[in-house]
Amino acid sequence: MRTAPIVGVFDSGIGGLSVLRACLRTCPGAHFLYYGDNRHAPYGSRPPEEIARFTGNALRLFARRRADVAVIACNTATAVCIDEMRRKFSFPIVGVEPAVGEAAKHHRDILVLATPRTAESERLKTLLERFPEAHFTVLPLPRLAAAIEDHFCRKGRLTLPEHFPPLPCDCAVLGCTHYALIGREIAEYLHVPVYDGTLGTARRVKELLQIGTADHHPTPAEVFDKNIFSSNFSKNSVTFLGNSKHMNENVMRANICFQCF
Ligand code: DGL
Repeated sequence: MRTAPIVGVFDSGIGGLSVLRACLRTCPGAHFLYYGDNRHAPYGSRPPEEIARFTGNALRLFARRRADVAVIACNTATAVCIDEMRRKFSFPIVGVEPAVGEAAKHHRDILVLATPRTAESERLKTLLERFPEAHFTVLPLPRLAAAIEDHFCRKGRLTLPEHFPPLPCDCAVLGCTHYALIGREIAEYLHVPVYDGTLGTARRVKELLQIGTADHHPTPAEVFDKNIFSSNFSKNSVTFLGNSKHMNENVMRANICFQCF
């Protein structure tokens, strides 16, 4: 008999750690699997068929581990293949999408930073059309996710002006989970507030866990009994999977979630 629901979190590399961080705070009763496909990162300019194949491999790994919920913590993979994955797998799959709705509540002139595949996707186009009162500039960034990966994993140099000019805007939406890892730096560089979708994704995961999954129905006490700002999370809250598991765990510990991990 299981004691905790299992949530698989997947990204091309370390970007999904920003979503994992939000999930750890929001769903303290769950056990998380993290799989980063760092060997194939970045996904952002790869052909859609390839991205779908890699995503399918990741979700099969979660299925073998009997995950109750899977999170595609990658805007690019969500944009390219989440519908296909939902047809293929029986567990609920949560995707990530740029937090343009939240940004449009407060701002008019909105810069959306994304990978080339996300930027050109029908999914993003349809999403933006839902907010006709806002003016969106979508900026595809072909190299930024790789530079962030390199910076956190191998101490590579990361300078934002190499990737995009400080464009005038009221706010920026971070349409790639890698960008959320340097949200503060992007905000300082552009001098505007930034929005990322990590918390919204984590709230959706929490909702699904509260509804209960096939063989586990967490009681409200299980979900709410810990203060989300406490440091009760332990190493045992997450199992890192795949060839890059040690690197992802080290990045998580050293840079992202040391206060709660
Ligand atoms: N972190 C991913 C995203 O949200 C993928 C970035 C990449 O691999 O290019 O889009």
